[in-house]
Amino acid sequence: MSRLTIYNDANAEKIAEYTSYEDIARILADAGLRFERWQASQPLAAQATPEEVLAAYDAPIKKLMQERGYITVDVVSLHPEAANLEAIRMKFLDEHTHAEDEVRFFVDGSGMFYIHQDGKVLMLLCEKEDLISVPAGTRHWFDMGPKPFFKAIRLFNNPEGWVAKFTGDKIADRFPKYEN
Ligand SMILES: [Fe+2]
Repeated sequence: MSRLTIYNDANAEKIAEYTSYEDIARILADAGLRFERWQASQPLAAQATPEEVLAAYDAPIKKLMQERGYITVDVVSLHPEAANLEAIRMKFLDEHTHAEDEVRFFVDGSGMFYIHQDGKVLMLLCEKEDLISVPAGTRHWFDMGPKPFFKAIRLFNNPEGWVAKFTGDKIADRFPKYEN
């Protein structure tokens, strides 16, 4: 189940925790983040191709692209047997920003987002059928855990411009890692 845990950013003290979709979506909306649940228009096999995945979520993808001006979409996946997992996990484990929104829809699997703003860290466990959009310029980091497993749809304004700009703040070290 998806879970939102809110911490004080200065001392990593837990302030609140939510598990209902309504609570999570409302609190994230207040913080300027989009959180939605999407349902596939047809059943998807675990081995579904990217084309089949995109077809199953065609309607909500098109709606979001139109609303936010995203121009490209792709599907990425990672399995616990993949090579170089530790290096891949480390890539987004420190606080950073992007010049673009970070939009992820979890077709399968899970991952932990950490959003740092207004004196708080919002730790959001995303699971199957969750969509999260982290606005451009928002301080955040992402942990896929030691045994990464996810298949995710990504939407971009400009995939070439989608690079992480690290803040240099080691705040991520003071917060719980994702132990999937
Ligand atoms: Fe990011």
